[in-house]
Amino acid sequence: MSRPLHPGVTRRGFLAAGVAAGAGALFSRASGSSAPPAAGSTPPTPGGPPSVSTPTVSAPLIAKAIPATGQWLPAIGIGTDSFRTGVRDDIRAELKRMSELGATVIDTAASYGDSEALIGEALESLRLRDRMFLATKLAGGSDAGAESFARSLERLRTRRVELLQVHNLNGVPELLPRMREWKQEGRVRYLGVTTSRAGQHAELADCMRTYPLDFIQVDYSIANREAAEAILPLALERRIAVLVNLPFGRSSLFREAAGRALPPWAADIDVTSWAQYFLKYVIAHPAVTCAIPGSTQLSHLEDNQAAGRGRLPDAPLRRRMEEYWDGKAA
Ligand SMILES: NC(=O)c1ccc[n+]([C@@H]2O[C@H](COP(=O)([O-])OP(=O)(O)OC[C@H]3O[C@@H](n4cnc5c(N)ncnc54)[C@H](OP(=O)(O)O)[C@@H]3O)[C@@H](O)[C@H]2O)c1
Repeated sequence: MSRPLHPGVTRRGFLAAGVAAGAGALFSRASGSSAPPAAGSTPPTPGGPPSVSTPTVSAPLIAKAIPATGQWLPAIGIGTDSFRTGVRDDIRAELKRMSELGATVIDTAASYGDSEALIGEALESLRLRDRMFLATKLAGGSDAGAESFARSLERLRTRRVELLQVHNLNGVPELLPRMREWKQEGRVRYLGVTTSRAGQHAELADCMRTYPLDFIQVDYSIANREAAEAILPLALERRIAVLVNLPFGRSSLFREAAGRALPPWAADIDVTSWAQYFLKYVIAHPAVTCAIPGSTQLSHLEDNQAAGRGRLPDAPLRRRMEEYWDGKAA
């Protein structure tokens, strides 16, 4: 079998695809960029990644470049749809650990219950706001949009967010002009739109062709590959960054994997769990900038963050991962 592709091995090819490995590569590039300093471009700890005991953590951090600016983002973030007051301490522990592990991207939304408020509270008390890349989503149409954004900033305890998205493509033509104004005012760094349904992919593609978007967010997993047909190639063509939601199909992939063994060759890409198998498959796609798996348990967060380090599968190995998952190959 050919060696799996590692960012450090074929550096030129990987850089062309916007991939880097290692906190050194990631953060020295970000600080050398002409773009203004932003959350996500600050080293996780002075001098490089933290020293922790988990073996996988010593492997290089995988990062991808945002096409619009060249800013590097660690390829695994966190989704916070399930953040609720009842798990406040777990959320704080997760965000603290996430930062220790070098990750930055936190995806939330105005409509995710207490999620924004819990994130704002945790980041403030942990003094982590400036290290994190905050992505949120607007609720409602044009007038409600301004109200929604003001409320998000207040709840997140911040004066600006890194990424503001139109949730589920709801009100794109009305909201985007206002969002562009907020971007010019420095209250938002990047603009995007989201969906999590294949039924909206055609509309998403129209948006990608019509509006100057920095980011899209789309559903994609080893069991849900529809986005790879048109959306991901279009994102590459139009130089739009991609956040991937539902990388575990809302945990349905774990139910499907129950009782199944990982293939022995998973070790060749530093995969030791099904979560890492699912996530490495997703982030190895050249169009994908960052996957945002949802987790409310620290052990899950650590498992998922381990997928953001070490070797990635190349295209033939990604196909083999699909075949193994589909039960067509050993
Ligand atoms: N339209 C949109 O814009 C849209 C729609 C959907 C989702 N999203 C975003 O995408 C994020 C991800 O989606 P999601 O959270 O719904 O689904 P998901 O990431 O596909 O799956 C989350 C589920 O997987 C479990 N899990 C996480 N890590 C695990 C691990 N290592 N081992 C075993 N189980 C694990 C979680 O359990 P625990 O909670 O117990 O850790 C949770 O039940 C959301 O949080 C949200 O930020 C956006």
